Amino acid sequence: MSNPDVPADRPARSEWWTDAVVYQIYPRSFADGNGDGMGDLRGVTDRLPYLQQLGVDALWLSPFYKSPQADAGYDVADYRHVDPLFGSLEDFDAMLQEAHQRGLKVIVDLVPNHTSDEHVWFQEALAAAPGSPERGRYIFRQGKDEVPGSGDGDRAPNNWKSIFGGPAWSRITEADGSPGEWYLHLFDTKQPDLNWENTEVQEEMRSVLRFWLDRGADGFRVDVAHGLVKEPGLPDWEGVAAMVEGTPEVRREPSPPGDAPGAHPDAVEPHRAVSPVYPPSPFFDQDGVHDIYRDWNRVLAEYDGDRMMVAEAWVEPAERLARYTRPDEMQQAFNFDFLLAGWDAERMAVAIEASLEAAASVGAPCTWVLSNHDTVRHPTRFGLKDPTTFPKGIASEDEQPDSALGLARARAATLISMALPGSAYLYQGEELGLPEHTTLPAEARQDPTFHRTRGAEIGRDGCRVPLPWTQDAPGYGFAVSGNTGAAPWLPQPESFGPLAADQQDGVEGSTLELYRAVLAFRSARKLGRGSLAWAEVHAPESGVLAFHNGEVLVLGNFGFASAPVPEGYSVVLSSAPEPSSDWSGLDEVPVDCTVYLTRD
Ligand code: NOJ
Repeated sequence: MSNPDVPADRPARSEWWTDAVVYQIYPRSFADGNGDGMGDLRGVTDRLPYLQQLGVDALWLSPFYKSPQADAGYDVADYRHVDPLFGSLEDFDAMLQEAHQRGLKVIVDLVPNHTSDEHVWFQEALAAAPGSPERGRYIFRQGKDEVPGSGDGDRAPNNWKSIFGGPAWSRITEADGSPGEWYLHLFDTKQPDLNWENTEVQEEMRSVLRFWLDRGADGFRVDVAHGLVKEPGLPDWEGVAAMVEGTPEVRREPSPPGDAPGAHPDAVEPHRAVSPVYPPSPFFDQDGVHDIYRDWNRVLAEYDGDRMMVAEAWVEPAERLARYTRPDEMQQAFNFDFLLAGWDAERMAVAIEASLEAAASVGAPCTWVLSNHDTVRHPTRFGLKDPTTFPKGIASEDEQPDSALGLARARAATLISMALPGSAYLYQGEELGLPEHTTLPAEARQDPTFHRTRGAEIGRDGCRVPLPWTQDAPGYGFAVSGNTGAAPWLPQPESFGPLAADQQDGVEGSTLELYRAVLAFRSARKLGRGSLAWAEVHAPESGVLAFHNGEVLVLGNFGFASAPVPEGYSVVLSSAPEPSSDWSGLDEVPVDCTVYLTRD
């Protein structure tokens, strides 16, 4: 897409996504344009100058489509409309146009694995008979061992569990009032899985892609990209224990069923997935998904301007993930191995090497991700006793992080990720060093996982708290007009006040200024287009992670003692919080710090 308004120093590149820094906007929590307590598209437009100044290349917006919001918009009722909560299609167009004028690409979220139960297709399926074309768009089955017509099918068709807790199947009541078929929902009961063998489903999603491509979207983040195709016959899964293993007792009562989005009477089987990556299963990472992405690749190729797709696929090992980015499939996949490595030099070095190798084997760029709207924010994870753990939410009775330590490590990790070749994803608020809200009261929690597991799994609300823009304003300035409208939809912790953007803007040593400096450095040195060579001083077993990218030497100190600055090099940028713009005299890299160095 050629754009006369793109600043001259931002060259029109081909395959812009190769090294793009993409900023994830979670629309409900980014900026509130109308003072109703909920972020929206006008809020995004209003804050575009901030994002441009930050130095990112692209924005990815989590879903803003028409939705009953049972899973914060990942339950889409109409793929072609903006939910009134977030504005209108005109607001989207205005936002997109303004973003493009500022040289920012815009990626929208595509949710193809499931619709909302309020989608017209599911409503039609409920009204239609078993075996009808309307039912054929979803995954409806009779109960296990049900004698056809007997109505005795009171056992779910197989043993699959919902990722959000409880069974993955719900039984419907047929239009005539009799107990009916079961439908599959890998997530909430309000998110029925589509049947991807159905040609109408395939055609509809192609048309949805075209709808947003025609409007000018530069790409798609593909939700649950590893989940669309299920193993034929939907067999039981022996590994189901992996989903229920380690389940804590129900330890807190959520608000009464019915009040909560997604609350369901069968939410009585709490479980905790020990890792978001499941062992091979009949519902994830089936080879058949790749045909879908080859098909979509051809749709995108009909358009100008290097449109792209990025897969959200929690699969292992890195070679399996790389399959999603083969030349005729998607352009990128989120690198969750890197995110899961935590603050640990050896684990991080292994993840970096394995992902670079796997990506190179298919000629795709790597991506680097530390946080998103589904994970505990990394400054908080890195401040826990074990900074490699991956808690599924944190509540006040859980271990609380050392926030200063966590932030120091988060800043250091950012310098590592920004110097790696490939593309990087930032989650809104990480540029402010925001922590997870770890003391949200149960009654404020909205994530369906919290409710479906009856509080056994805390869920993701703590990383979704509305951003603080101005310390001395109601809601920390979440409402862009500064009006004193409704309180933000989730309460903000007091720790957000001093981290508000206005407190960091122009302040040497602040996390915001660090991000601005790092992004500018990365862009000037073209680090995203470079390559990695482990440095002589690289010694992850001793806590030193060090690599060259072009003329830059990157050294992260994960150890217990300062590391010497290698001879012949000077520090040009440091993640340490001490305000400074000149580190050249530094001869030691403190612990929990990363520095960029160049030759004297
Ligand atoms: C992944 C999304 O990131 C998450 O927020 C959502 O709950 C699930 N997919 C289901 O759509």
